[in-house]
Amino acid sequence: AALPRFRMSVRSAAVSVTPLVTELRKDCTTPLPLLRHVADAMAADMRAGLAVEGGSDLKMILSYVDSLPTGNEKGLFYALDLGGTNFRVLRVQLGGKEERVIATEFDQVPIPKDLMFGTSEELFDFIASGLAQFAQNEGNKFHLPTGTKREIGFTFSFPVKQTAVDSGILIKWTKGFSVSGTAGRDVVACLNEAMERLGLDMRVSALVNDTVGTLAGARYWDDDVMVAVILGTGTNACYVERVDAIPKLQDHASSGSTIINTEWGAFSKGLPLTEFDRDMDAASINPGEQIFEKTISGMYLGEIVRRVLLKMAEADALFGDSILEKLSTPFVLGTPDLCAMQQDTSDDLQDVGSILYNVAGVESNPSARKIVVEVCDTIVKRGGRLAGAGIVGILQKMEEDSKGVIFGKRTVVAMDGGLYENYPQYRTYLSEAVTELLGDDSAKNVVIEHSKDGSGIGAALLAAANSKYHSHDS
Ligand code: GLC
Repeated sequence: AALPRFRMSVRSAAVSVTPLVTELRKDCTTPLPLLRHVADAMAADMRAGLAVEGGSDLKMILSYVDSLPTGNEKGLFYALDLGGTNFRVLRVQLGGKEERVIATEFDQVPIPKDLMFGTSEELFDFIASGLAQFAQNEGNKFHLPTGTKREIGFTFSFPVKQTAVDSGILIKWTKGFSVSGTAGRDVVACLNEAMERLGLDMRVSALVNDTVGTLAGARYWDDDVMVAVILGTGTNACYVERVDAIPKLQDHASSGSTIINTEWGAFSKGLPLTEFDRDMDAASINPGEQIFEKTISGMYLGEIVRRVLLKMAEADALFGDSILEKLSTPFVLGTPDLCAMQQDTSDDLQDVGSILYNVAGVESNPSARKIVVEVCDTIVKRGGRLAGAGIVGILQKMEEDSKGVIFGKRTVVAMDGGLYENYPQYRTYLSEAVTELLGDDSAKNVVIEHSKDGSGIGAALLAAANSKYHSHDS
């Protein structure tokens, strides 16, 4: 679509690379030794979190998912997905090994901003009524035996202390959610209560994190999937761990494997942070928390850049005498705006100019726009490379425990989330860092695969695998 016209500023100075840009680049640089240090620290934090509850920044949450989809799952299942920008409902008809996924239908709505700051009842009523509406148009194609209920896989993408595969307590909100009354409660009970208020009779059979749903969904098609990563509004990773490598799990059979939700967004060691990151963190609703997430994920990259540009505008008159009211508003600049600006390859960076004018209310000349693109690239490069180091940290930990099992054969990392999906530069920086860290030999066995919306199907599959009514075979 054509971008709206904007006025060319005649007053902004012909800015050349300023000391601020040079300093930013220096502060955000991620040379190989730094990445290596981050990957090592990630692996060490994983071990510490597996050793004892609360032993590290990484919670290393037990998912209680210890059997992954086999392909034999059959029947009609629902999935709910709450955790980022949108709320989604999904209906999937599974046909077993031969037929696999027979049909899927889904619906999605943006989560109203006020619900992110409201009460727990309001949020869960919203979810339950979205589900009720969607369930209503199921039609009468599917008849369930009497005495059974429709079953749901509930993807709830926040740190939850699982107590079983179908229940868990919200530890805290992340990603800008600040709903009162949910932390410390079983989120399945919250949903059940809301469904009761509506007279909706369905059963949650699996409660999963989005990373866990993604891993299950990807594993359904590919046995080599061992890790799943979300890079979207927030970020997180899960992986397949051997039960005997989890010291904090005491009264459990010591064989087999399970999925661990790392909650790596809370990682914080060795990151190259700037005054802009510190200020953003201090102004956030969860200061001191989710530092890795604040450095590499979609919710924050635009905001970091906005803070840098505001300083450059104030200190160096980057945008001449433009009024800085809009640019001073937290979160006006989104990561999709950075991405759109980075796709502009024209000489005078017209699109960059339009976006700056329309989104941030500032006028710019071509040399200022060049600096803006440079700032975007610096922040996005740091994010992508650190995400790559995080992934290598996980693979490294798995390899150390089982020599050759990870790097000696094909290993798939299933990836989902809008940031990864839509930002080509971010993707490139991420995979460059992975290759630099692993070296060509190991890197060629590690496949990073986009598993689009796999988490919904994955949650439905896990509902099937943990169904109360369907017999499950393996
Ligand atoms: C946040 C949540 C985590 C989720 C991730 C990606 O980090 O705490 O549970 O997986 O965002 O959505």
